[in-house]
Amino acid sequence: MDLVVASKSPHRPGISDTHIRFFRRQNFLQLHTILELPEAGLFVANDEQGEHVGQVLLLGNQIDSVSDVRQAWVYDLSVRQDWWGKGVGQALMARAERFVKEELKHAYIGLGVTSANERAVGFYERLGYQVERVQMVKRIQPDV
Ligand SMILES: CC(C)(COP(=O)(O)OP(=O)(O)OC[C@H]1O[C@@H](n2cnc3c(N)ncnc32)[C@H](O)[C@@H]1OP(=O)(O)O)[C@@H](O)C(=O)NCCC(=O)NCCS
Repeated sequence: MDLVVASKSPHRPGISDTHIRFFRRQNFLQLHTILELPEAGLFVANDEQGEHVGQVLLLGNQIDSVSDVRQAWVYDLSVRQDWWGKGVGQALMARAERFVKEELKHAYIGLGVTSANERAVGFYERLGYQVERVQMVKRIQPDV
């Protein structure tokens, strides 16, 4: 759960790590409703002792708002920090891509990543993901 703050934006200074963790935990607790959908994919990586090392969660049948193309969307990818750089993230994404191609039969996978999370941006670019649109934000008053 600590990894969720890797996606924190420096442009929203009023939002605490505690709030991000709380919000993401609430999302996590609703996971079972998503997983009941046939277009949902959850792939988990374990170590040799069966301990959880990372996971990827994605959903198919997501409509791209500009092109109207039906595609898959990656909602969460995270790898336990002591396993970073060992190919787990890459293996999880390869499994997710196979699911999208062979089972969902979509041509595209989209995802959102916080620009400040340079490690994740570099990781996705290495895997062939392209920056397609840029989401912008401006703080117009202190957080309410
Ligand atoms: C991003 C994350 C999933 C990567 O997982 P990982 O298991 O460390 O990645 P891998 O070891 O599979 O790396 C795969 C490749 O990407 C490369 N890579 C990793 N970080 C990179 C970076 N910042 N720039 C360029 N390449 C990078 C690795 O060198 C490796 O390539 P190689 O096998 O040719 O050497 C992991 O760091 C993580 O969980 N971060 C916190 C959560 C997060 O940010 N999730 C994404 C938010 S959407």
